[in-house]
Amino acid sequence: MTDPAARTQDALATAAALRADRPDWWRDAVYYTVYPRSFADGNGDGIGDLPGLTSRLDHLVDLGVDAVWLGAFYRSPMVDGGYDVADHTDVDPEFGTLADFDAMTAAAHERGLKVTIDVIPNHVSDQHPWFVEALTAAPGSPARERFIFCDGRGPGGDEPPNNWVACFGGSAWARVPDGQWYLHLFTPQQPDLNWENPEVVAEYDRVLRFWLNRGVDGLRVDVAHGMAKPNPLRDMTIFPEPGQPRVAEDPRLDQDGVHEHLRGFRRVLDTYPGTMAVGEVWVESDERLARYVRPDELHLTFNFKLVEAEWGAAAYRAAIDGSLRAMADVGAPCSWVLTNHDIPRPVTRYGDGDIELGRRRARAAALVQLSLPGSVYLYQGDELGLDNVDDLPVEALRDPTWENSGHTVRGRDGVRVPIPWSGDAPPYGFGGADTWLPMPTRWAGLTAEAQAADADSTLSLHRRALEIRRASPQLGRGTLTWLDSPADVLAYRCAAEGHPDIEVWLNSSADSIAPPSAATPLLASGPLGANGSIPPDTAAWFLGPDPR
Ligand code: GLC
Ligand code: CA
Repeated sequence: MTDPAARTQDALATAAALRADRPDWWRDAVYYTVYPRSFADGNGDGIGDLPGLTSRLDHLVDLGVDAVWLGAFYRSPMVDGGYDVADHTDVDPEFGTLADFDAMTAAAHERGLKVTIDVIPNHVSDQHPWFVEALTAAPGSPARERFIFCDGRGPGGDEPPNNWVACFGGSAWARVPDGQWYLHLFTPQQPDLNWENPEVVAEYDRVLRFWLNRGVDGLRVDVAHGMAKPNPLRDMTIFPEPGQPRVAEDPRLDQDGVHEHLRGFRRVLDTYPGTMAVGEVWVESDERLARYVRPDELHLTFNFKLVEAEWGAAAYRAAIDGSLRAMADVGAPCSWVLTNHDIPRPVTRYGDGDIELGRRRARAAALVQLSLPGSVYLYQGDELGLDNVDDLPVEALRDPTWENSGHTVRGRDGVRVPIPWSGDAPPYGFGGADTWLPMPTRWAGLTAEAQAADADSTLSLHRRALEIRRASPQLGRGTLTWLDSPADVLAYRCAAEGHPDIEVWLNSSADSIAPPSAATPLLASGPLGANGSIPPDTAAWFLGPDPR
């Protein structure tokens, strides 16, 4: 038997060699977002896990993505789906073991896939040993200094220290028995860390190195814009919809101090050549976003403007243009996102209640997303054209938003329903019959197996698009130039030296439009009309004349 330590060294060498091949692989990579609870269940308990993921890695290879972004899988009481971390250097037993993680990473690397993982630095679980210790420690003690504990306002300190609201509703402060309050931007079970405390900085240095030493290729930094709080903790402006973090001058988020902490992360990453980090940053302006990807900070930050854009050419153009400009100023590529485990699926967003319309539009949106310069984040199930499951029985709901909103907001469970792999009835080959969220019978025709056999399926469309993208430096690594186009039509040219241009057309108008002249269709999100005309709610890629 080989010595496990030697085996680990081999695995690390493979990982490093893969990155050394192209150290800036991350700039135009296509990342596939895995929400571990819902991807694949290896042991039949109805909950996705790491062995399940390993067993389905070939789906990612066949799809043609470059990397996995694996959502939170750490030891956690699961109040917020694992984003309440009790031990950042261990795997939650629900998902498997560290050995399962190593096996998954090795299997991914063998297939040429990079592995990137979540890091959750803004808060920990209230079950984290630090917080347990802080609760029994006295006000002002070093154990409390790792968090943001304050005395309250008003007589007896009975009022919270300020008026901040939590992102899942309610006050952002919770009171402990001795009368002090602690800050939690998310649920009360997710106390915010105090990044002014060098002990916190040192702990995350350890966490980052722990995973980088196991061969991971990159990080996704959860709530990267939350890691610094203003001093003093001034009140926020209460907007009509409390709980929405995306407002200008919100003192809870996007404070200047975050950048120093992110530079610290970058210094660690730079000692592991070819690794990267992407930030989850929700800010209003493209310019504020660009500050996170200055040369000594994060490599990437999600560009959420396509998430916020309404369906259609005008909104898409504004979103794309603003992001490209702001990122170009700091020399960083964009990272295009249409959805993730927190955001309703495009099929549902674009359908206005009509799933088929939504699916047509989501397929068109995918061809736009996959053509743009920069990197792309796909979310599991979007390659299958899944819709949100917005009719989950209320007793099944797990998102803390449901309880915290007094049963008025269902939250994000509808985008987290397990993936249908095969067969024609739930659980569709996912694993155990009793899936943690029930799967709808209407997905019978949408399994990966069924779609792989159908050349016109959404899965086949994604595979073909990724195959073309991989072979075409014009896409992802190219430059974008807008073309003149009729109203409600988006048109641009993707160019790379020495290659024919690829033109991308998206028709969000009500009428068919003529295709570009002197260009041949490469791929379309739906059937083209007579003479190659582009019907409504359709996008197409066209290949221009050879430049030679
Ligand atoms: C991020 C995660 C989300 C989580 C929140 C709190 O937004 O994507 O799932 O609830 O952070 O950690
Ligand atoms: Ca399982």
